[in-house]
Formats: sequence, C-alpha cells, structure tokens
Amino acid sequence: MLMIDRTKKVSTDEKQAVGEFAAGLVEDGMVVGLGTGSTTAYAIQALGRRVKEGLNIRGIPTSFQARMLAVECAIPLTLLYQDPVVDIAIDGADQVDNELFVIKGGGAAHTSEKIVACSARRFVVLVDDMKLVDILDHPVPLEVMPDALQLVERRVSELGGKPVLRMAVHKDGPVITDNGNCIIDADFGKIAKPDRLSLDLSKCVGVIEHGIFDNAYEIFIGKSDGSIKVLTRKH
Ligand code: 5RP
Repeated sequence: MLMIDRTKKVSTDEKQAVGEFAAGLVEDGMVVGLGTGSTTAYAIQALGRRVKEGLNIRGIPTSFQARMLAVECAIPLTLLYQDPVVDIAIDGADQVDNELFVIKGGGAAHTSEKIVACSARRFVVLVDDMKLVDILDHPVPLEVMPDALQLVERRVSELGGKPVLRMAVHKDGPVITDNGNCIIDADFGKIAKPDRLSLDLSKCVGVIEHGIFDNAYEIFIGKSDGSIKVLTRKH
C-alpha cells in the first residue's frame, strides 16, 4: 500500500529535481522525445543548457508547448518522419499505479505523447510522489473528433464513466487540441483493470486516442528531500 499525504503541496523543487535528473539520461547523438507539461519543461530547459555546452541531440516535441520551449532553448528538432525511432522519450504524467499504468493528457497532448512514447526504445515518466496511487482513479482524457462528441459521451456512459467536455480557460468554449479536436475527461472512478478499459476506449469510434499508457519503462519520482526514486517495469 502506498502511503501518500495528499494534503501536501507539490513544490516546484520536486518537479525541477526529477526533470533535471531525466535530462542527465540523454547521451550524445540521441533522438529525444520532448514531453509536455511543467515537469518535462525542466528537462527541456536542462537539455537546452547541455546543448549549449556541446551535446548533440535531435528533439521531437509532443506539443506546441514543447516545440516553443525547445526552440527557445535552441534544441535542434526533427520529425518522426525523418527519425522514426526515438532513443528516449521523456514525459510527465497525471497519475501512476503500482503496475506502472499511467494516465496522461492533463495538457491535452496525449495523442502526440503516445505516438512519440510508442516510437521510443525507452519511455521514461517523471512524477512527484503525489501522483502515485495503488489504483488509478484520475479521469481519463480522450481526444475526440468534434463530430463524434455525443457518440463518445454515450459510449463512455455505457462503459460506466462520466464524460465531461473539457472547457478552455481564457477562451470561450471547449479546449481545442493541437490537432483540432476536443477533449472529454471520462471519470470511471477506481479503474481496477486499466488494460481492459484501455482496450474498450481504443474501440470507441471517434476517439483519436485515450490517456492510459502501458509502456512506461521507468517511472522517476521526485521526492521532497530532493532525492529521486525509480520504479522499473518488471518483464
Ligand atoms: C500533458 C501531460 C502532462 O505530462 C501531464 O499532465 C503532467 O503535467 P505536469 O508535469 O505539468 O504535472 O500528460 O498532456
């Protein structure tokens, strides 16, 4: 049983520590998946500093956010079309369970994040310990084609979930993803069988991609004392 104090606020130090640690995993000549979110931003900035010191890498951003930051940090970029095999993909997560199932998509970027993660030899996920749970219960983000919104809402309800259309902040109307789609956050309560739900959601017509990931190779956890803990997938 994981004991987590959920009253605790996550300090930026934990995100920064684990982000900078992950940048240290990158070696010269690598193609690197650049994830999205506040934790990975620290990894991108640290990689930018290493590039200035002479590290030779090519980055593949997973969102406009990651692309803008990578450009600002002068990280050379490439495309999956040119470099279809990623050496290491580095990304954050919204929740992680004991078996290393991961929920992502808090930044509405999980489709590109999953494509890059699945193209990677090594997919590493960066979290703080507030995001670790025994059983996943975070709403699952679904990237949905606008015409399919009602169809998908019905299907999520049939699967026992509560669908909520994600609304934008500082813009009227729904969140529109980098791919021009909408996001439904589907709350299934406790997800006892994430692999089963993942299959069911993959079968929903109109869902481009859902936010359950089963391919994290390692989870790096930033702790409040500045140390890093690692969970590794058992083969
Ligand atoms: C974006 C994501 C992010 O990686 C996830 O939301 C975690 O973000 P943060 O590091 O800001 O807590 O999946 O789609």
